[in-house]
Amino acid sequence: MNVHATTHDELHAEIADKFDTDAMAQESTLLNPRFYTTDFDELDRIDVTPVREEWDKLIGQMKADPNKGHFKKTEAWDKVDWDAMEPGLKRELIDFLVSSCTAEFSGCVLYKEMKRRGKNPDICELFNYMARDEARHAGFINDALREAGVAVNLGFLTKAKKYTYFRPKFIYYATYLSEKIGYARYITIYRHLEANPDKRFHPIFKWFKEWCNDEFSHGEAFALLMRTDPKLTESFVNKLWIRFFLTAVYSTMYVRDHARPAFHEALGVDIDWYDQEVFRKTSTIARQVFPVEVDIDHPRWMPNLKRMERAFRKMEAAEKATGLSKTMGKLTAGAQAAFAFASLYLIPVKKTTPPESVRLEPAF
Ligand SMILES: [Fe+2]
Ligand SMILES: [Fe+2]
Repeated sequence: MNVHATTHDELHAEIADKFDTDAMAQESTLLNPRFYTTDFDELDRIDVTPVREEWDKLIGQMKADPNKGHFKKTEAWDKVDWDAMEPGLKRELIDFLVSSCTAEFSGCVLYKEMKRRGKNPDICELFNYMARDEARHAGFINDALREAGVAVNLGFLTKAKKYTYFRPKFIYYATYLSEKIGYARYITIYRHLEANPDKRFHPIFKWFKEWCNDEFSHGEAFALLMRTDPKLTESFVNKLWIRFFLTAVYSTMYVRDHARPAFHEALGVDIDWYDQEVFRKTSTIARQVFPVEVDIDHPRWMPNLKRMERAFRKMEAAEKATGLSKTMGKLTAGAQAAFAFASLYLIPVKKTTPPESVRLEPAF
């Protein structure tokens, strides 16, 4: 770090001027990564006896800590020429790093809190390892950001960011999905850049392979937690909730990725292709525990994702307007987004029967 100390301060001033990253990380819109809190006592009462054998195996893997030395810059970390980077790309890359860092850190905060409040040794051990991993992930991204002269003040963020309360079962659905989707996102970019190394415009992508294995195991842990209580995935109402979370998580990702055209163009990735690929991988994995799957090849799927994305762009534009056009603009765009979401939600789901044994290994 700090190889170019002479220009570093100038760069810092210039970038800090343009990007208020603390404010970026703190923003609590529908689309930004959120901070969660839950009923920790209820979570603590989980009994993992029904999945004991698989549980112990997974915890054993986490305890062995295969990625202990991974999140450090080595000579493979090429120098990034932030000055020469096209400004649009620079802005979107920083936005990508800030939102990834916030998401990693939000996991860390939730997991650490559970570990701190829990008395159940199984739960405490699991959440301790997961918090350890997420802290490393967030720290590593923050290191990368620091080279650009910006960094997310994580301590400040914990206090300033708003927390959303979710019942434990919603934490399972949402967190399970975000861990698995995180795996699918990282591995898809990694494989793409493996085939197209000339598109690797930042060294952090080289770290994604081992990284996504951490996310994969975190997802495995939530799959096991859900398996301790069949009602969580089998009751009629909970199936509707799972369907809701799948639709919400997928469509949010679609809208958020489309806000970074320059970033994806530099990677040489078509966003629609990338997102569908990530959904497909995530859905394949989620068959391990979810009895329903959204039909991403349905003729209404893509058109309504696009409709939703357009509605969000209109909402953003309306935000900048004033007076009546602001109110009207926000109302119509909000209704359009809600309508698109309802259409996505109502696409008939595919029903699957989760296998006897829940555990999977990362195979992509
Ligand atoms: Fe992570
Ligand atoms: Fe994770």
